[in-house]
Amino acid sequence: MSDHVLGVAMNGVTGRMGYRQHLTRSILAIREAGGVPLPDGSRIIPEPVLVGRSERKLREIADQHGIERWTTDLDSVLSDDRISVYFDAQITHAREAAVRAAIAAGKHIYVEKPTASTLSSALELAKLARDAGVRNGVVQDKLFLPGLLKLRRLVESGFFGKILSVRGEFGYWVFEGDWQPAQRPSWNYRAEEGGGMVLDMFPHWHYVLEHLFAPVRTVTAKVATHIPERWDEEGRAYQATADDSAYGIFELEGGIIAQINSSWNVRVNRDELVEFQVDGTHGSAVAGLRTCRVQHRASTPKAVWNPDLEDPSSYREQWDEVPDNTEFPNGFRAQWEGFLRHVVLDTPFPHDLLSGARGLQMAEAGLRSAQNGHTVELDEVTLT
Ligand SMILES: NC(=O)c1ccc[n+]([C@@H]2O[C@H](COP(=O)([O-])OP(=O)(O)OC[C@H]3O[C@@H](n4cnc5c(N)ncnc54)[C@H](O)[C@@H]3O)[C@@H](O)[C@H]2O)c1
Repeated sequence: MSDHVLGVAMNGVTGRMGYRQHLTRSILAIREAGGVPLPDGSRIIPEPVLVGRSERKLREIADQHGIERWTTDLDSVLSDDRISVYFDAQITHAREAAVRAAIAAGKHIYVEKPTASTLSSALELAKLARDAGVRNGVVQDKLFLPGLLKLRRLVESGFFGKILSVRGEFGYWVFEGDWQPAQRPSWNYRAEEGGGMVLDMFPHWHYVLEHLFAPVRTVTAKVATHIPERWDEEGRAYQATADDSAYGIFELEGGIIAQINSSWNVRVNRDELVEFQVDGTHGSAVAGLRTCRVQHRASTPKAVWNPDLEDPSSYREQWDEVPDNTEFPNGFRAQWEGFLRHVVLDTPFPHDLLSGARGLQMAEAGLRSAQNGHTVELDEVTLT
């Protein structure tokens, strides 16, 4: 049986996500491992072609990693029959036009989140991909993190009994850029360039909630631009026009209440940069990127509220670590492998552009709720 060599055009590989997570830790790591093994003993070998705006940067990356092909001409790769997959990790607002062109050229599509800048564009892309019959997917990396995989294990085992609530805490301090350089790109803080906490993180929270617990039915959110002035990559001051913090309440089907704080203006006093606490009638868990701790109802201490007495309990020590029991590969790579199998074998891949569009629906609903102060219901989105 012969291997399946798949040409993958990778746009945005000079960026943070495109370079580290997708090119080096996923596609090149898969190549180094000899490809993605298939049940019949054959392998999928992805062949990257780098696409971008800067010849110099692309050449440097290509030379450094021994990649033969790179180009600044997207059309030339889209008209190349050796390319089967178009991958996009560009800045969000550059995505739609490139993905449209790639679908029109008959390429399978895999993109970073959010899949587009607006729900209507995201739905349009999902529809175009369906009509063109191309396979399509969106990065939903958090689902493949060890901590969240352990959380999934708990949900599937029935550990929680009836799940009551989920509270998520995400964030860290992003430097303003004047006295210490910012550790995120400046477009993240400009609404006109697709920045903003809600647009960035609500798509993540949507697939986490939907895949681990239940579909999201309503959104209530408050957003803020706590730091109105920042300094960009060149040290120039600019106005932050996008929200840099979002405080959301999400009601899920079946009555679970999820509450997630997302902020780039918070100093970390947690074990991990994101943590979700899930409370159920039979047990609770706190999951982060890597770890997951649990407390069963049988080992729940009887806490008594009495501010007059010193409390000797070390509450955090009363939780048990969920063991790994397996090896966890890099989450981005694991999802790439799933997508490549989906392309070649049509194996199920629930992380499609329609799922990505639902993430944008929740982001838009969050912004609307923040604007008008109301709870916004999420109608079911479908492709007509
Ligand atoms: N899955 C995740 O956890 C995750 C995390 C961060 C970002 N992202 C997403 O990945 C995408 C890229 O984010 P990033 O943090 O890597 O950004 P980045 O600024 O580091 O990289 C952006 C890339 O887009 C390219 N680009 C194309 N047109 C551009 C333009 N007009 N201005 C600026 N850059 C342009 C750049 O050359 C670069 O390769 C975004 O859509 C973002 O939402 C996902």
